Amino acid sequence: MAPPHTPSPAPSASPGVHHPLFARFYARFSVSADAKGGLGALRAELLAGLSGRVIEIGAGNGLNFAHYPAGVTEVVALEPESRLRRLAQEAALRSPVPVTVLPDTAEALPLEDASFDAAVASLVLCTVRNLPQALAELHRVLRPGAELRFFEHGLADSPGLAR
Ligand SMILES: C[S@@+](CC[C@H](N)C(=O)[O-])C[C@H]1O[C@@H](n2cnc3c(N)ncnc32)[C@H](O)[C@@H]1O
Repeated sequence: MAPPHTPSPAPSASPGVHHPLFARFYARFSVSADAKGGLGALRAELLAGLSGRVIEIGAGNGLNFAHYPAGVTEVVALEPESRLRRLAQEAALRSPVPVTVLPDTAEALPLEDASFDAAVASLVLCTVRNLPQALAELHRVLRPGAELRFFEHGLADSPGLAR
């Protein structure tokens, strides 16, 4: 059996995520929101104190990676959208902790049971197609007593941002 942090040799059985317009938009918008909208500080707060092996679902362009504390020994990050995944792979090279980026969705994790100390979901639980399945998968790969750190948003007041 392949070690848990390497990509599955066979193509994933989970449905792909193909949102090229969203990916272009998010790659720009998210960087600006981090710097000017204060999201960077919230990411640091979300990840503070984590340690050991961490799984991050829907990592986008990898904006969390810079904020993982030194106690994290490995991050396995999943990003099914190809453009965002390429950006996440670039961000992984600059990360202070080791990050492996995989193409899988949260609903079908190619990872061993009870093999992670924490899971991170930022701005993604509102996006996954099958939330109960994704949460069940996270529960499966987390060891007993592990943490799920999540960060979500409400509906924006302005119609443009809400859309
Ligand atoms: C709003 S972005 C958030 C990205 C990143 N987590 C962040 O904090 O900036 C949502 C991400 O979830 C990904 N995504 C969509 N469906 C998914 C699924 N079923 N499993 C995992 N990730 C998914 C998208 O490709 C996108 O990168």
